[in-house]
Amino acid sequence: MRNATITGWGKCVPPTVLSNADLEQLAETTDEWITTRTGIKERRIAHVEVSDMAAVASRHALAAAGKTAEDVDLILLATCSPERTIPAAATHLQAKIGARRAAAMDINAACSGFIYALSVADQMIKGGSVTTALVVGAEKLSFFLNFTERSTAVLFGDGAGAVVLEASDEPGGLLSFELGTDGENAGILCVPFSGTEGQPALERPQWVNMEGPTVFRLAVQAMGDASARVVEEAGLSVEEVDLLIPHQANVRIIDATARRLKLDPSQVYVNIASYGNTSAATIPIALAEALEEGRVAPGDNIVFAAFGGGLTWAAGVFRWGSRVTPLGTSDAALPPTDASVFDLLAGNVAMHGKGV
Ligand code: ACO
Repeated sequence: MRNATITGWGKCVPPTVLSNADLEQLAETTDEWITTRTGIKERRIAHVEVSDMAAVASRHALAAAGKTAEDVDLILLATCSPERTIPAAATHLQAKIGARRAAAMDINAACSGFIYALSVADQMIKGGSVTTALVVGAEKLSFFLNFTERSTAVLFGDGAGAVVLEASDEPGGLLSFELGTDGENAGILCVPFSGTEGQPALERPQWVNMEGPTVFRLAVQAMGDASARVVEEAGLSVEEVDLLIPHQANVRIIDATARRLKLDPSQVYVNIASYGNTSAATIPIALAEALEEGRVAPGDNIVFAAFGGGLTWAAGVFRWGSRVTPLGTSDAALPPTDASVFDLLAGNVAMHGKGV
């Protein structure tokens, strides 16, 4: 049977750090509150656009897979913060890496976007129309930070992660997945005026609007339930799960999902302290780091789970292949910047913030 397996992985996190101490200068908050309520210590702020970060992560993923950009048939870029709505950020990514043969499109399912994109690419490979896909999650959510909304301003960061998904005759790959949407609750996590609705966008600043505690409750329920269902659908018991790589939105949501699956903390990959919530990028960044740190072994059963704006949720069980080391490396990197984190956030602060 034609299957699909991940053969390359890579990440790109911008160099500029926004620490909790920096945030104390920008918003009415404290390091102690942010650390205990979310698990986040710092996040990265981009001086470039989403497709720039996506291109660097993709080059690393292609090198790890031993592929060139011209081998790619399909690019799926999961993002809800593209530099432009027209054209899709995936088209800029395609041009930047030189993937001349590839079809390219964005997928917007907010924080669940990477699992949505992975499952679409998986199905297209299994259906026979695609052989090599580049599946990317990349976000620049710093654009939407409002420092008078302290419950959201402390959560988000920028970054990108990418995988190469290739046709394979070996068993494994995405054993099961579930994608879900609750559009009736769309209003509890959204960015009003970020599209064509209402006033011209320039007159209406666009900030994340979130009913945090409600989102928290629904996230715990949806991620836990969907994870348990995909494990069962894959024909596995929870004892056979080797690693949970969850969306990194709040360490308390991650802990609750792990408890639902009865997993030991050592079986859960958590890097939220370093990057905060990078939306669709959290899972591919975490996967790349888990591989770099030797946390993935050949044949491991990995559970991915996410929840985000939409409301959307997604979960999947992925059985890893035989190779956990990259075939090659790339020296791709973002251009350097001299800007301070306060320089990069000056526009947000001018609009809403304590001022620095
Ligand atoms: N610093 C200090 N105090 C704060 C902060 C802050 N940054 N934020 C909120 N508070 C205060 C509140 O004002 C409130 O004070 P009060 O009791 O005097 O009224 C108190 O802390 C408790 O506020 P809650 O909102 O109840 O705090 P909670 O523990 O729920 O944490 C949080 C808030 C972190 C937002 C949490 O609800 C959460 O993580 N929600 C889910 C986020 C998520 O998963 N989003 C999905 C993905 S996002 C996407 O898709 C783009």
